[in-house]
Amino acid sequence: MNERRPPRSSARELERYAGLFAARTRVMRSSAMRDLMAITVRPEVISLAGGLPDTSTFDPALFKELLCRMPSAAALQYGPSEGLPGVRDAIVSVMAAENMAVDADEVIVTTGGQQAIDLVTKTLIDPGDVVIAEAPTYPGAVPTFCAYEADVIQIDVDSDGMKIDELEETLAGLDGAGRRPKFIYTIPNFQNPAGVTMSLERRRRLVEIARERELIVLEDNPYGMLRYEGEELPTLRSLEAPGPTDENDFVIYTGTMSKILSPGVRVGWLVAPRPLLAKLILGKQSTDLCSSTLAQHFVSEYFASGDWRPYVAELCDLYHRRRDVILDALAEHLPAAARWTRPQGGLFVWVTLPEFIGTTDLLARALAENVAFVPGEAAYADGRGRHSMRLNFSSSADEDIREGVRRIGKIVAEQVALYDTLTGHRGRGGDDARKAAEPPPLPQEPDGERMANILQLPRRGSSGGRRSREA
Ligand SMILES: Cc1ncc(COP(=O)(O)O)c(C=O)c1O
Repeated sequence: MNERRPPRSSARELERYAGLFAARTRVMRSSAMRDLMAITVRPEVISLAGGLPDTSTFDPALFKELLCRMPSAAALQYGPSEGLPGVRDAIVSVMAAENMAVDADEVIVTTGGQQAIDLVTKTLIDPGDVVIAEAPTYPGAVPTFCAYEADVIQIDVDSDGMKIDELEETLAGLDGAGRRPKFIYTIPNFQNPAGVTMSLERRRRLVEIARERELIVLEDNPYGMLRYEGEELPTLRSLEAPGPTDENDFVIYTGTMSKILSPGVRVGWLVAPRPLLAKLILGKQSTDLCSSTLAQHFVSEYFASGDWRPYVAELCDLYHRRRDVILDALAEHLPAAARWTRPQGGLFVWVTLPEFIGTTDLLARALAENVAFVPGEAAYADGRGRHSMRLNFSSSADEDIREGVRRIGKIVAEQVALYDTLTGHRGRGGDDARKAAEPPPLPQEPDGERMANILQLPRRGSSGGRRSREA
């Protein structure tokens, strides 16, 4: 039998290979969520960290039936790089459900939406090129932009999504410096991680800016179908090309099956202006030749098996209820100075704590209490987000959400008490502040105004009677 070799020092290991690494590895960042996955699979950990949909709701009998229906030889074979026709047709129908008219031959099937972000970045970005993203942005996109050595400039969001006036100022500043962003990355619906949705007015203006300046917008829309409150808003893609024959010049659209069917199938897609499609396909070929044919046959059989929308409606009802559970738990367990967003759909709430609490450090304490969240810094390329955290409410049972938030509330309260003791600054985030009718203004990050904009998202609507301190 083979003896297990003792583990070697990772520092020495790295030293040995140091001369081999490409320069770009110096700017590569790990994905906070992927790192956390290793810890959060432990059954005793309540994870509010992942972006996981609740796949236990998928009918196991249907799952088996779909597997049995798959044509074995074809499902085990390579497929076309742009994806199987049945899947591209299914994607056309999903996009039609969000009022977008596209042809199947404009669609590239990708290995999850993540690969779509990667392919666009790989195709458009040279080292030092500017990508504009929201602040905060999808934590999984940050390592991708960094890996291709993009210069990521982040524009604050408030409860109406990306601040377009700030975007315009930034674009003017870049003009002055002779720089032109390669693309603007946005998640207009129930944004990951902030849970906020871009207003119609801002959507219109963003599309106008794209046209006026001939700028590419990468619209990432994994959550658009998961609206459980409020009115549906048009996608940027549908504003750019409202009719079936209209040309879409500036919006690259990406979607995914991950949140409406399964992330395990790793099937996402890209729809791009035609001149970009060929290059994107070349990028895909060099990455993986084609997305899993096995998974694509599963997706194709699923869409052929009947109407897919009732399942999405079921997910919406479930997430709606869990959203209410987490909002109630936050109001009950977090100190008065904390703020959070109130999503009308999707999977995430963004919580901002007082400035003396760093959420990356807090995570270590949280893990000791067997609860996990994503620290805010993961959603920034520039080190901001230190006092914020992303909480997911779609993949935990109601009682786990309550218990997870209770545990987070407990460690936050400990930090507040410690701060009060050390500074003699009674009630900054503790009981005195809790009793105050209006919570005190939130502290600003050291880098001033920009962060203040994120902390103090204006309130939106009523919370249906529940006590709330929405950011
Ligand atoms: C905004 C956003 N984009 C892309 C993805 C990637 O999704 P997937 O690769 O599972 O399709 C996610 C996943 O959570 C996301 O939230």
